[in-house]
Amino acid sequence: MPQGRYASVMLVTPLSPLGTPRLGVNVDHVATVRQARGGTEPDPVAAAILAEQAGADGITIHLREDRRHIQERDVRVLRGFVRHMNLELAAEAGVVRIALEMKPHAACLVPEKREEVTTEGGLDCTREPEKLAAVVEELQSVGTTVSIFIDPDVRQLQAARAAGATCVELHTGSYAEARPGPARAAALSELGMAAAAGREIGLVVHAGHGLDYRNVGPVARIDGIEELNIGHAIVARALFVGFERAVTEMRRLIESAVAGCAPAFTGDGAELGYGEEIRPGEKIGDDAL
Ligand code: PXP
Repeated sequence: MPQGRYASVMLVTPLSPLGTPRLGVNVDHVATVRQARGGTEPDPVAAAILAEQAGADGITIHLREDRRHIQERDVRVLRGFVRHMNLELAAEAGVVRIALEMKPHAACLVPEKREEVTTEGGLDCTREPEKLAAVVEELQSVGTTVSIFIDPDVRQLQAARAAGATCVELHTGSYAEARPGPARAAALSELGMAAAAGREIGLVVHAGHGLDYRNVGPVARIDGIEELNIGHAIVARALFVGFERAVTEMRRLIESAVAGCAPAFTGDGAELGYGEEIRPGEKIGDDAL
């Protein structure tokens, strides 16, 4: 490796001591398309198989109370064979009962409103803390690792810990929605601070929501974020390039970002380029900070 390149990588991107974040692929939106016709195709189970084959470390699904995409059948079938299932659910009795029966490897407690298009914010762990703690404990009692989806906020981290969770998923929506520039840099910095604060109080830190091929790099490089859960962008890209390739591309982008390489994502279906170095202040992807 040429000296200059190596030097610049060291300057900008000290490798995360915890390594590359795992990629959890959320297949909800495959089910969204299926539910549009109320039939059996496309099957999120098939998508999960392809995602795992393409290098996904886990499969994430959200069993919403209104069953708008993932159905109980999906949870049951997927539980039988995916290497790692992360079940997102509200802390409500009906879905908790199903989770207790399915015993997923991991569960992520999320807020849920029927009228929302997607999960809009993190769970407020300071509201009804006893109820939250009871659900966390119940899920843990069947061997499930419980995380809570929260905004990157120290009060929420502390409340999640107090509820007994060992893990949190930081909501990256504000970062993803912020305009490139100071607003996005500030949102990224909040995520970085929350990740550090979470680790300091003993939490495993994940992140997700709104991450895509252009904005994932800086989040992947945050020290101590161990898992990224990504759905919409992967399913959307899969329509044009196929599921396996969409997952492989995301996996490579994450790896490249952590390794200090700036992958060029064209977003037009063309091949991704890998291996370009990142210099101080240089942009990652198209949506620069
Ligand atoms: N993490 C959580 C907790 C979510 O609720 C969602 C959306 O279902 C995601 C990650 C994935 O978000 P997106 O589909 O925007 O990638």
